[in-house]
Amino acid sequence: MIIVRSPARINLIGEHIDYNGGMVLPAAIDSFITFEFESRNDQKCLVQSDIMSNDFSCSINQLPNKTGTWHDYIIGVLRIISKITDKHIQGFSCKMVSSIPNGAGLSSSAALSCGLAFGINILQNLQLTKEQIIQIGLETEHQYIGTQCGIMDQFAVTMGLQNNALLLNCQTQHYDTIPITLDDHQFLLVDSRVKHTLADTDYNKRRDECQEALAIIRSHGIDVNFLIDLSPEQFQPIKPQLPLTLQKRVEFVINEQYRTMMAADYLRNNQLLAFGQLMYQSHHGIQYLYEVSCKETDTLVHEARKQLSILGARQMGGGFGGCVLYLIEKKAIPLFKEQTYKMYNDTFCIEPLFYDLNICNGIHSSIINREEL
Ligand code: GLA
Repeated sequence: MIIVRSPARINLIGEHIDYNGGMVLPAAIDSFITFEFESRNDQKCLVQSDIMSNDFSCSINQLPNKTGTWHDYIIGVLRIISKITDKHIQGFSCKMVSSIPNGAGLSSSAALSCGLAFGINILQNLQLTKEQIIQIGLETEHQYIGTQCGIMDQFAVTMGLQNNALLLNCQTQHYDTIPITLDDHQFLLVDSRVKHTLADTDYNKRRDECQEALAIIRSHGIDVNFLIDLSPEQFQPIKPQLPLTLQKRVEFVINEQYRTMMAADYLRNNQLLAFGQLMYQSHHGIQYLYEVSCKETDTLVHEARKQLSILGARQMGGGFGGCVLYLIEKKAIPLFKEQTYKMYNDTFCIEPLFYDLNICNGIHSSIINREEL
């Protein structure tokens, strides 16, 4: 039996710029989908999940078409693997147990698609590279789920490194590792429990808006392939040519790219105060320029600003709800949780959830003999 653990991810900063060719700063965290894979003697493919109803079952020779359910992740992964390898996929059984909350902006979907591809690859010795696993996860989102996401999530869950963030260039896919040493501080997540499904939200609309802005900018003779390649000096004279909404989107993208570069330097030099300020600035842009936050996450960040023990806070991930990431002093956490619970529940009648986290390695596997079970 092969056991695969596929982690969730956080993104320290650099939101919504992966698909604009930017730098992002994600890390894998210790919340997992654990898969148990076993070979079968027939051509059947059976996948069960502890949190989703309706097991997936099909013949590997007759993969179904899209269904509009969570099965599409499996169908997508299997179909894309079949396309990129000339090896025939054999029948297998897979049981999944997940501790990653769905719709919280922690990338449970990338953990699912990349973890599945990773496990099938090992079980059947398909010799796929990690780069191909990332690509399979990404294409599954694009072609089978309908989220036109960037590469950040699939990259982070596959390549994550314990106690390090990845400073990833989404154009070249080169990355540097940035050690995270926070001493008496730590990262903490508060789940607003406002759920989002990216395929159904304005996520794709934001991506379209960025494409539209890029097309207008290029039509004025500025030769850039991605929005983040536009310097502030190039942008200022062209800005009035864009509709107001697109001006705001571009401004956010340029600033967020700049913030990410600065943030990486601050982290390398242990300048946590300055790093925290960038988190607040990032949220400000997310709220007012990119407009992908919601009143619940805005309130959490607004309240955080009043606490000296919190160095920074921002809504994280695709947006429209999900989690707020905090950089907070360790000893302040118990009181913070108590007060935030009360404030949030009193204001919105929603009980927030708190996730302590550790930065861990990306997807990994172990082989277990039946006798060891
Ligand atoms: C989602 C997407 C990522 C990225 C973030 C926003 O998590 O899957 O590609 O765009 O949103 O930074």
